[in-house]
Amino acid sequence: MIISPKDLLIAARRNEKAIGHFNVFNFESARAVTSAINETKKPSFVAITETTIHYAGLGVITSIVKKLAQELEADFFMHLDHGKNLETIKECIEVGFSSIMIDGSAFHFEENVDITKKVVALARPKRVSVEAELGHVGRVGEIVPKHFQTRPDRAEEFVELTKVDSLAVAVGTIHGLVTKMDIDYQRLKEIFSRVKIPLVIHGGTGLKNREIAKLISYGVSKINVDTALRIAFMRGMRQNITEMDPRKVLTSAMDEVKIVVQKLIQRFDKGAGGNE
Ligand code: G3H
Ligand code: ZN
Repeated sequence: MIISPKDLLIAARRNEKAIGHFNVFNFESARAVTSAINETKKPSFVAITETTIHYAGLGVITSIVKKLAQELEADFFMHLDHGKNLETIKECIEVGFSSIMIDGSAFHFEENVDITKKVVALARPKRVSVEAELGHVGRVGEIVPKHFQTRPDRAEEFVELTKVDSLAVAVGTIHGLVTKMDIDYQRLKEIFSRVKIPLVIHGGTGLKNREIAKLISYGVSKINVDTALRIAFMRGMRQNITEMDPRKVLTSAMDEVKIVVQKLIQRFDKGAGGNE
């Protein structure tokens, strides 16, 4: 039975598990991610960024993902990751995305509330779930001062004002290939006690197993992974790079991505127990 992304995340929050979010950027990455979802039978988010939309074209990339959905026995949700442009967001809702992230994290609180409310108003009639971000999750190499992290009182106010379905929080995780993160679990705990909707962590690539387990035990319901998949893709490409048939090169890229995604799905599904 297909449930909504919102209900899936609410159940994850209740059951102390996390749902995986995996970014795809072409046919092969989409095939690899959806095969991993199919084999693990764990519903997950298949995410597309605005950069991928510019690269592949909205119609092309969504047709690929939708077609793959028809061929599989497991559910997954087509999600716009880090949506910033309202026109693109409208198009994504029209074309059938079931989940949208509005990233207003670069704005001041009031502007972030305003743009998030606009997206919620567009999404609700179509039953599309909305994720927003409050605070700033940095990129590798960027120094994010503590005061850019999510304030628990502001998070509560933000959710109340916007009526968003899930909230991405900045608690010290970083986008990209990082070896060390300084995660503020106390802050997360406080956010969790004030915010009753599912919490999302960005920057999944740099997380260690014990950090994943701890984040879930502190109330995280969705974990986003992008860079790790691109690294796996390129590793696979290099394994067969001397081949003259591009399909052989791309097949090893798909195999590598699929292995990474399967492992992550299983780890997220173990919840707080996936400490090893
Ligand atoms: O929105 C996407 C995620 O936050 C990806 O983070 O590239 O560190 O895995 P990552
Ligand atoms: Zn992110």
